[in-house]
Amino acid sequence: AMSDPVVVAIDGPSGSGKSSVAKAVAAHFGYGYLDTGAMYRAVTLWCLRTGVDLADQEAVVAAAEDLPLGLGVDPTETTVELDGEDVADAIRTSEVSGVVSAVATNLGVRAVLQQAQRDLIELIADDFGGVVAEGRDITTVVAPDAAVRILLTASEAARLARRSTQLHGSADAATVAATHDEVVRRDRDDSTVSQFTQAADGVVLLDTSELDFEGSVAAAIAIVTAGLECA
Ligand code: DC
Repeated sequence: AMSDPVVVAIDGPSGSGKSSVAKAVAAHFGYGYLDTGAMYRAVTLWCLRTGVDLADQEAVVAAAEDLPLGLGVDPTETTVELDGEDVADAIRTSEVSGVVSAVATNLGVRAVLQQAQRDLIELIADDFGGVVAEGRDITTVVAPDAAVRILLTASEAARLARRSTQLHGSADAATVAATHDEVVRRDRDDSTVSQFTQAADGVVLLDTSELDFEGSVAAAIAIVTAGLECA
């Protein structure tokens, strides 16, 4: 039926512009927004704060199961809280980014978070009439039946320039060089989770290398609109 809640799944590597594009797409359609990377980051921060050894796989799974997480899923004012405390900035520090892959590669944690994400997607979609969920495995594992699935890509050069601007405020040769190791390392860490060189069957590939933010959002909105028309 036309009024069925819509699920839009967006995956992509770091620096593809995935989070900001997904949020803008959600705002455009009046849908809710789920940042699944924030959930892996929140588990990581909670373990760091409560003294759980990230190498202790079972202890980290237990932390993920009991995570006192609060997510604000309105795309115009997203929030992330742990035990009632605002951690939106704390989950994005280099302290967390540097070790989050130890949590993201924990298969027990993945199973817990993937199920939580399926439940959240349904709840948010019902609440807003639709949801845009973004991450690494949303189009393939978490929501393979989503009405629209998009894989955002960008050339390494484009992603480096964006990360450099994000982290250091500029993208001149020196800062791009300083960012290079971080991006290459994150790609390697994330590649244990999923591959981004090819889109799975039925997933629309959107290469944003030559697009600015507005262009990327417009292209993603066009893909969603076309996808909903065929559905
Ligand atoms: O998108 P991000 O940088 O906030 O993601 C943080 C980490 O979580 C990164 O190592 C990739 C991982 N991740 C994942 O494994 N699966 C997801 N659905 C989302 C993120």
